[in-house]
Amino acid sequence: MSSANRQYDLVVWGATGVAGRLVADYLTEQYTPEELSVCLGGRNEERLRAVEADAVDEADSWDDIPLILGDATDPERLRAIASQTRVICSTVGPYTEYGTPLVEACIEAGTDYCDLTGEVNWVREMIDRFHERATNRGARIIHSCGFDSIPADLGTLLVQSHAIREFGGPCDVVQIYLEDGNGSFSGGTLASAAALFEAASTDPRAREALSNPYSLAPVEERHGPDSGAQRRPQRASLRSGWTAPSPMAVVNERVVRRSNALLNYPWGRDFRCTEVIPTGDGPGGAAAAGAVAAGLGAVFAGLARAPVRSAMQRYLFPDPGEGPSKAETKEGHFTVRVLGRGMAANGPFTVESQIGADLDPGYGATSRMLSESAMALVTGDTDSPFSGGVLTPASGIGGPLASRLRDAGLTAEVSTVPESDDLAWFVRRRPEWPERGVGTQFLLAV
Ligand SMILES: NC(=O)c1ccc[n+]([C@@H]2O[C@H](COP(=O)([O-])OP(=O)(O)OC[C@H]3O[C@@H](n4cnc5c(N)ncnc54)[C@H](OP(=O)(O)O)[C@@H]3O)[C@@H](O)[C@H]2O)c1
Repeated sequence: MSSANRQYDLVVWGATGVAGRLVADYLTEQYTPEELSVCLGGRNEERLRAVEADAVDEADSWDDIPLILGDATDPERLRAIASQTRVICSTVGPYTEYGTPLVEACIEAGTDYCDLTGEVNWVREMIDRFHERATNRGARIIHSCGFDSIPADLGTLLVQSHAIREFGGPCDVVQIYLEDGNGSFSGGTLASAAALFEAASTDPRAREALSNPYSLAPVEERHGPDSGAQRRPQRASLRSGWTAPSPMAVVNERVVRRSNALLNYPWGRDFRCTEVIPTGDGPGGAAAAGAVAAGLGAVFAGLARAPVRSAMQRYLFPDPGEGPSKAETKEGHFTVRVLGRGMAANGPFTVESQIGADLDPGYGATSRMLSESAMALVTGDTDSPFSGGVLTPASGIGGPLASRLRDAGLTAEVSTVPESDDLAWFVRRRPEWPERGVGTQFLLAV
């Protein structure tokens, strides 16, 4: 089914939410009406008009922006919306609660789709129910196009493509380091985290999606050498220092493994990947890793128990719709570094990529990542063997996303690490590390 002659290029679905407003602002600041036919979608006309007014105020080239109304629980309306546009990007979450009818509508209409979900249980459901149909209908369904999981997934793709180009083969192992981050959470994100834990407590399929490290791989291939996300403090495997568990590993590692499987294992069937938070050298690094692991364990244990989860939602979490102001989303920063190690004919080699920004990772940077993922689908600026299916950023968009992110003000770099420096290179090159690592930030937040 051709979507070439649709009324709109792109619908921003959920434009009244914290992330959706930022996407609407970014797209209209970055692109003119001649370059992009965009429409703002949501369930409340008054709130949509306010978002439109703000965006028009700030973007010189827009006099007005079309609006489209609908409810995420009304499949018929969603089918009508999906058939009017070539691409939909959705920030309506929790996706476990609201996401499925829109994905189904997009597949029926042959409309491309991208979102911000980190709800592994729901992604797994979308794969099992819709991958084949999406492939047959030519609809690209690309989940996790935000801080979950673009830096990890695209960062790994950059490392592996560089390794294959420069050394003739991929790295056998990558470690993803969430370092140097500072950002905030919205009510919508915390509601989605709570939805994930609720699903895990009631639905055995959700528990399986969370316990099997290969749960997002194609059906017959849900096994491999990785044994699961790190839970305790451990020494880094590809550089010096201590590491703590990462709260996003459960999503990001699975997305990276799905990319490898979908692309037909260009990184090998024995490819291994882990994501961690570096906390530094010596006893200080070990203590920080222990504290982060304990804090994270306590938060996860609380979220796993229904009464504690409800109390946290009621008394601690902001309500959905509440979150950082636009100014605050421009104030954070993050760096995600991916290190890969491989063996070439003339010896071992190490490759590193770095994706980062001087923006709040979950909102300022995420809104740009989602917007540019959607624009890659609109413009066809992709390097992917797939014209449909339930895909990942690396497998469905690929390398061109890196240059789009650079144009959007993020860094996205890859290079060979000089072998003479070997494993201690990083500490020598970045003497200030790890005083302000994510570990410390997380610890303070907990
Ligand atoms: N991957 C990442 O790194 C990342 C980063 C940030 C956020 N996220 C995820 O993105 C999602 C959105 O986060 P957020 O902070 O923007 O949440 P939010 O502020 O609560 O926004 C949710 C949006 O969904 C809309 N909505 C809710 N129920 C609806 C329904 N029945 N029909 C139509 N629209 C409906 C809301 O509309 P109203 O305004 O009318 O209520 C609002 O526009 C969450 O799932 C979060 O976890 C992921």
